Amino acid sequence: MAELAINGGKQTFSDFWPAWPVYTEQDKAALIEVLESRNWGGYPAPNQKAREFGEAFAAAHDSKYGICAANGTVTLEIALRAAGVKAGDEVIVTPYSWIATAGAPVTINAVPVFADVQPDTYCLDPAAVEAAITDRTRAIIPVHLGSIVADLDALMAIAEKHGLTLIEDCAHMHGAKWNNKGIGSHGHLGSFSFQSSKLMTAGEGGIILTSSKELEERCQAHVNCGRKEPGYDSFEGLVFSGNHRITEFQAALLLVRLQAMESERKLREENATHLSSLLTDIDGIRPMAKDSRITHQSVYQYIFRYDPAAFGGASRDRFVEALNAEGIPADGDFYIPIYKSPLFPISADRFPAIRERYGDRIDGSKIDCPVCDKAAYHEAVWLHHPLFMAGKKEMEIIAEAIGKIQKHAGELSDD
Ligand SMILES: Cc1ncc(COP(=O)(O)O)c(C=O)c1O
Repeated sequence: MAELAINGGKQTFSDFWPAWPVYTEQDKAALIEVLESRNWGGYPAPNQKAREFGEAFAAAHDSKYGICAANGTVTLEIALRAAGVKAGDEVIVTPYSWIATAGAPVTINAVPVFADVQPDTYCLDPAAVEAAITDRTRAIIPVHLGSIVADLDALMAIAEKHGLTLIEDCAHMHGAKWNNKGIGSHGHLGSFSFQSSKLMTAGEGGIILTSSKELEERCQAHVNCGRKEPGYDSFEGLVFSGNHRITEFQAALLLVRLQAMESERKLREENATHLSSLLTDIDGIRPMAKDSRITHQSVYQYIFRYDPAAFGGASRDRFVEALNAEGIPADGDFYIPIYKSPLFPISADRFPAIRERYGDRIDGSKIDCPVCDKAAYHEAVWLHHPLFMAGKKEMEIIAEAIGKIQKHAGELSDD
């Protein structure tokens, strides 16, 4: 008789996982307050709640300024523009991310250059970054991926040595700290998303952090149709830009969500730590390496590494199917390498700036990031954050389901 749920055996978990997003009476009251104020925002920018939230979120991450914006895609574009990155400049990015990380340079006619990730963190490898630098490099965009912070000490040292701007893509990692200092405040600029799947959300939204007054004012102008509001006088001219403001409804909701950020982060960290201790005992499963400099871990996705050899050769995707069938929602191909995305055979006809580095088009098959390829297609398994809003017992159930699949891996043959 079959044991695995994928073959008709009994499911390990058939209850509900915590719902996401979370809201309380306080969230409702905050929205009603904005409604009744008749100041729904965003213009003027920053409006009242957006200013309040920007300051509070920046302070919570040990940064001076927080500039709210419409989403975490445009925040990356604005950060690049504010840093003075221009058409033809090269920007080193991680390939193991959502497309926006590499799409932002493309959108401003800069050239994305992919450097590989580290095998034990899946974050940008400082050695690969150093090797990718040319005299056209202007910026580096690491992503703090899943629940692991990229090596900010090494990346910042490289940025400083070569006079580059470091833009941290923190879309996954609200509330995390590296060496007891908020992420997004180590580089020159930090970019966050408040899109609906993220750890803090207002449905949509984004924010840029910086401790430079000039960068703050440049970002603010880019958010606000290129305008300079009164008091924003640290740089000369107006800039061409669109309207990327958030509304007062979003900012009001985010102000309430910010109050819950640390307690939710702590709960997820405790659960993730417990799960890691359990997974370490299962042959063929390895949690990602958690650097001791990650002093406050934030878990957007808990990623672990899967070794088919310990599962009778079953592919990562087959394992993920089996895990889902056991009642544990998981993803294998949450991200594919950005250069393999159907959007990425970018042509020089449309984006002439890429020609010097890539010729007529960016050909993903010629980009050599083997660690990223292995993670994306064979090794990485992703568990989404709502699971970590449950308790210790549920972490034990996740480990039990994985252990069960391993014990009965013989049932996983792909035919
Ligand atoms: C790593 C990363 N960067 C950028 C973004 C873009 O954020 P948004 O969806 O708010 O545009 C996302 C969100 O999906 C992301 O995961």
